[in-house]
Amino acid sequence: MNTTRSEIIPNILDMLAYHRETAHTYDSVRRGGGLVWATKPWDFKVYQSLPEVALPNPSSLLEADAWEVLRGELPVGVPVAIDLPTLAALLGVSWNLTRENVYGETIWYTRSYPSAGGLYPLELYLVARGIAGLEDGVYHYSLHKFVLTRLFSGDFNELVISQCGGTWPEKPDLIGIVTNVFWRSAWKYHSRAYRYCFLDAGHAVANLVLTAHGLGLRPYLIHVFDDQVISRLLCLDDKLEAPCLVVPIFGQRPFPGPASKSGSAEPTSHVLASDLDTYQDTAYPLIDQARRITSLTGQEVRETAARWTGHAGSSDHGSPAALASGARRGRLDDFRKIPLAKALWQRRSHRQYIQRPISRETVKQLLDAVRYALVSDTPLEAGPGLSVIVQQVTGLTPGIYRFDGSWHEVVTGDFRDATVKVCLEQGFTRRAAFVLFWHTPLTRLTAAYGPRIYRAIHLAAGVMGEKAYLAAEVLGWGACGIGAFYDQEAQELLQLEDEEVVYALTVGPV
Ligand SMILES: Cc1cc2nc3c(=O)[nH]c(=O)nc-3n(C[C@H](O)[C@H](O)[C@H](O)COP(=O)(O)O)c2cc1C
Repeated sequence: MNTTRSEIIPNILDMLAYHRETAHTYDSVRRGGGLVWATKPWDFKVYQSLPEVALPNPSSLLEADAWEVLRGELPVGVPVAIDLPTLAALLGVSWNLTRENVYGETIWYTRSYPSAGGLYPLELYLVARGIAGLEDGVYHYSLHKFVLTRLFSGDFNELVISQCGGTWPEKPDLIGIVTNVFWRSAWKYHSRAYRYCFLDAGHAVANLVLTAHGLGLRPYLIHVFDDQVISRLLCLDDKLEAPCLVVPIFGQRPFPGPASKSGSAEPTSHVLASDLDTYQDTAYPLIDQARRITSLTGQEVRETAARWTGHAGSSDHGSPAALASGARRGRLDDFRKIPLAKALWQRRSHRQYIQRPISRETVKQLLDAVRYALVSDTPLEAGPGLSVIVQQVTGLTPGIYRFDGSWHEVVTGDFRDATVKVCLEQGFTRRAAFVLFWHTPLTRLTAAYGPRIYRAIHLAAGVMGEKAYLAAEVLGWGACGIGAFYDQEAQELLQLEDEEVVYALTVGPV
């Protein structure tokens, strides 16, 4: 076992205990130990000896306006059919390699979505049926080669949907399944990585959903599903990888295609040969425990779905959620017209903020777009609350505010030193125009909705973080996620009672 932490790992009983055990403290960050570069996991999964389908290069840039998509404002058009070029555009725009970085002998890639430490623990699988140009089946998306690797042929869509909570009047032709390879992130972040994997997933899934909207498709996020069955369908190595989200994507079929043979209702349970078996370390007992506590199977899926149903933001599967009309004021000139594809491909984490006046109204429009939830099975109140540390915004006195569509002053003052300190001495936070913090009452929410909600809360924070990155891009500003903060100190600085901080992010002109 390579974990560098030598303390005794406790038995945790609930996700609040996991959250507290993985809090950063002054001691814990100094106990971390160095990184073992020789065991750094490669961040692409490659299957050996399986058929590959090349994805066509998108014929044109996705022209949908980024800010309209971010506000859910796209005119409702005729739903499009999903064919292979549409699927290629969806993947090539939302989950793409954006930069090749060379350092000595090492080459690494950054992507259209950010990731804590640039470790990219996510994989994407697709379950396809009736998509013109693609045989029905289960596929893995290899983004570094821009190909789909076929795991199985046949129609498995009904099987996947039958393992998800809720009722499904409409059957999707395309289902994305996002998985986490925990060790990629745990290699650096140890047990805290379980949080980061879901924050990362939120960022990446926001890209997928917004791009789907830009293409006229209707995606939906499902957290409540049977982990074991989905894991077996994808032949995942349970020690290393687990499904984290199911994303049915609705289009419209141009004509009923020939029915293909239904996939076996009992998925296989072997592990397909992939390069993941070269990974050397899986031993993070707190992550294993968190996975066990939050996992669902059989009857638990139905019970959890019943607890969540009725509290979700929308029952309309996949129609883009839009900003509440009260929040949707006229577009300010600051929000440039740029294609969504450009915003996604140019996105990167910025830490070199400059001083330039930005207005309170611009920040409000940005935050309105960040805050509204994507359509999912998640109870609305599980969307984390937002606090803003205002450092340089014209018309707002520096200080700490809650933002729920309106500004609520908590305390005014200069909190730049305190913010740097809370963010593990990351000095660049001082220069940002404002710093966002997402927080949530974990005890109350896990009591009301069960431990699975922990995953949805972190994913929702990641989704909002990604919208902030993209909105900053539209403005010509920059943003940077902050997963590294002292938990207790952040809670105290923000004057939160009975709420835990889950994520932070800096924003400002660059
Ligand atoms: C969940 C999450 C946490 C992050 N935490 C930090 C952080 O604490 N400090 C920092 O400088 N960057 C942080 N980042 C930014 C990553 O380092 C960055 O996304 C990664 O290096 C890839 O670079 P890119 O975003 O420019 O493509 C975080 C990103 C995410 C998604």
